[in-house]
Amino acid sequence: MSTPIKFLTKNFGAYDTSSIGAYMNIGGFSALKKAVNMDPEDICTLLSDAKIKGRGGAEYPLGRKWSQARAVRGENKVVICNADEGETTTFKDRELIKNDPFNLIEAMIIAGFVCGATDGYIYMRAEYACFRPLLLNAIRQAKNYGFLGENILGKGFNFNIHLYSGGGAYVCGEGTALIRSIEGKAGRPRMKPPFIKVSGLFARPTCLNNVESLSLVPHLLVDSETYMHCGCGDSIGTKLISVAGNVNNPGVFEIPFGTTVREIIYELAGGIQHDREIQLIQFGGASGKVADASILDTPYTYEDLRAAGVMVGSGGILVIDKRTSVLDFLRMNQEFFSEESCGQCTPCREGNLHIKIILDKMAAGTATPEDIKTMATIARVMSMSSLCGLGETAQNSLQSAMLKFPEVFDLGGARA
Ligand SMILES: Cc1cc2nc3c(=O)[nH]c(=O)nc-3n(C[C@H](O)[C@H](O)[C@H](O)COP(=O)(O)O)c2cc1C
Ligand code: SF4
Repeated sequence: MSTPIKFLTKNFGAYDTSSIGAYMNIGGFSALKKAVNMDPEDICTLLSDAKIKGRGGAEYPLGRKWSQARAVRGENKVVICNADEGETTTFKDRELIKNDPFNLIEAMIIAGFVCGATDGYIYMRAEYACFRPLLLNAIRQAKNYGFLGENILGKGFNFNIHLYSGGGAYVCGEGTALIRSIEGKAGRPRMKPPFIKVSGLFARPTCLNNVESLSLVPHLLVDSETYMHCGCGDSIGTKLISVAGNVNNPGVFEIPFGTTVREIIYELAGGIQHDREIQLIQFGGASGKVADASILDTPYTYEDLRAAGVMVGSGGILVIDKRTSVLDFLRMNQEFFSEESCGQCTPCREGNLHIKIILDKMAAGTATPEDIKTMATIARVMSMSSLCGLGETAQNSLQSAMLKFPEVFDLGGARA
């Protein structure tokens, strides 16, 4: 039986989210008060000891990122909170914003202190506009209480937070596109280097983190022991996941790493509607890989999922039952990428177009074995030569499906 856990979500429902006083009554801002009396490098070490990997999808170690951000030379550094949450089936960050906005503000101030930044930006997807008043109120109150502005807590540290809304493009979750979007330009990725940690928003050194990565930090600073005792192997602590698709109880759950996929789907998410059989499970949103039901007894950890051919990624889990064929799922996924590719580079623009054509031919029964080979080649070229992560990962689902469900692509054999 999976054990429910409340570490990251422990403030959910525990205070009036419109009141800084209510937040402080449950211990709010004690992590910041502790942080400003610590050596920032020790905070990075704490994050590294907890082996926190960025929760936005790329799984980059948080302690290392902050340590690197500190080390970069430059004035007026910036920290950005990526609240774009554009990955399909991923809706966990919205719960953190909605249920614990002050914790996110506190986390950003700590990030600013550690990285030596003067400004923080929250980039929030257009669809979360309903949370703007909540965050603006939290920012205003934090400023009134002296947690933002000049000489914070008498430590000579100046920091302000600005809130931006995106225009609704998935690609704007990618760091360089996000930055261009805030700058008022078309939200399209650019070549790297320069990396944003050196030259990011308005050419200032920039540290970009996901909402969940940031939200973990205040909790960890006040109670690292509980976190360190959760989890399994190198996957320490807890993870916020969102489960969607043909399950009885879709939603957001905090789990200790090591909970099995079966426990997630059959206990937390209530099992499959009408007890149907699982066709496939996709991990980490549209750019994630797929598995079949043989993954059910795999523990949800970075290492175990990777060994099973998938990844934690954005923390989204999509469960598809047997009513949907693998091919129809892939066509639906492809539609998303064909729509969201910004069209700037050839492998992604043309690759998505041609793979869509071949998948449609498969559905119409007119594809040839040569088409399947071409599709595999295009997918490989896209992953190796696209300009940004969108093109690099767009065919993860197809490539993993080719491995897991070879019969679908064997045009002489049975179709799933
Ligand atoms: C196309 C694309 C979309 C992305 N969308 C998001 C997103 O919505 N939210 C997010 O946190 N990271 C997203 N990322 C990952 C970010 O670029 C970046 O790695 C992340 O925000 C860094 O934060 P972290 O280290 O805390 O995970 C996306 C990446 C790509 C390539
Ligand atoms: S990979 Fe796709 S989304 Fe990224 S820059 Fe190229 S065309 Fe645009």
